[in-house]
Amino acid sequence: MTETLFEKLRRVDAEYYDKERVHEIEEALDRIRALKRQRNAVLLAHNYQRPEIFEVADFTGDSLGLSLQAAEVRDAEMIVFCGVHFMAETAKIVNPEKTVLLPNLAAGCSLADTANATDVKDRIRELKEYYPDLAVVSYVNTTAEVKAVSDVCCTSSNAVTVVRGISSQHILFIPDQNLARHVANHVPEKTIIAWDGYCYVHHQITPDAVETMRRQVPGIKILVHPECRDDVLKLADAALSTSGMIDYAKQSNALDFLAVTECGLSDMLQIAVPEKHFYRACKICRFMKAITLHDVVVALEKRQFEITLNEDVRVRAGQALTRMFELTGAARDNLALPADVAAE
Ligand code: 13P
Ligand code: SF4
Repeated sequence: MTETLFEKLRRVDAEYYDKERVHEIEEALDRIRALKRQRNAVLLAHNYQRPEIFEVADFTGDSLGLSLQAAEVRDAEMIVFCGVHFMAETAKIVNPEKTVLLPNLAAGCSLADTANATDVKDRIRELKEYYPDLAVVSYVNTTAEVKAVSDVCCTSSNAVTVVRGISSQHILFIPDQNLARHVANHVPEKTIIAWDGYCYVHHQITPDAVETMRRQVPGIKILVHPECRDDVLKLADAALSTSGMIDYAKQSNALDFLAVTECGLSDMLQIAVPEKHFYRACKICRFMKAITLHDVVVALEKRQFEITLNEDVRVRAGQALTRMFELTGAARDNLALPADVAAE
């Protein structure tokens, strides 16, 4: 028997998703479906979004998957991006002909905000005096302006492949220091100079909760996002992007998992892999949770908030993204995938 929306959402949070709320959600979903048809719009949603948003998403994914998907939108006139600002900008960079909407401007990213283009340019100038071969690798969690002054972009799923693939020995890695350290551990032959940014969500997760879970649940698989601190990453069975974690949980023989990242991913796993158990040691990202169904309704009605970019910035940022696609064959490298999954 097919599960109702009420049953599905209650598996995520029985207290929050009561009958009244789910009824309101169903009404908003109907309205969004009608508006999407009217506006000829597609909706892309990041894996951390509120679970009710997945119900109207044409595609859900991690940063890499969403950027690939955005580039492939052909027939629709409009992309409604349920994620954060830099992701919507990326959609505009790879598909400039389309109208790209971010339904709530509070959906920023404090990690992306740690690097502005002027400071990055100053740092590049300074470092190039010592390292003339310096290459600038920007995590996609950066503004379009920062991408535009970078040589190549990367995501959490392909950062190691990108850094290995470029010929330079010296890399300025922007803006996440934890991902930079993770890359440095996997590519010891290169010198990685890290920007000092971090994600407030992942950086606040400490090893204690993870160690306790490891002791209490024999056989549990611990999946950690590479934006986490090194002492947390060391406890991982696999360091993966959000979509990498979903693939891992689906493919593994294990029944118990701990996804150490933003809480939306645990919600997503609960829905996508109902036969397995997901323990929680997660934190909420206020930016990722900014967008509500109501915002999506209003965005489609009023065509707000449109993402616009200076054309020169867009073109140069696009070159850094293209370089990433070229270096990776646009594929996830699923780094640190352990033997039990690799063999399955
Ligand atoms: P993913 O690309 O792994 O989905 O990560 C995006 C992000 O913002 C993590 O905080
Ligand atoms: Fe930015 Fe961190 Fe939120 Fe991801 S989880 S959007 S990196 S603040």
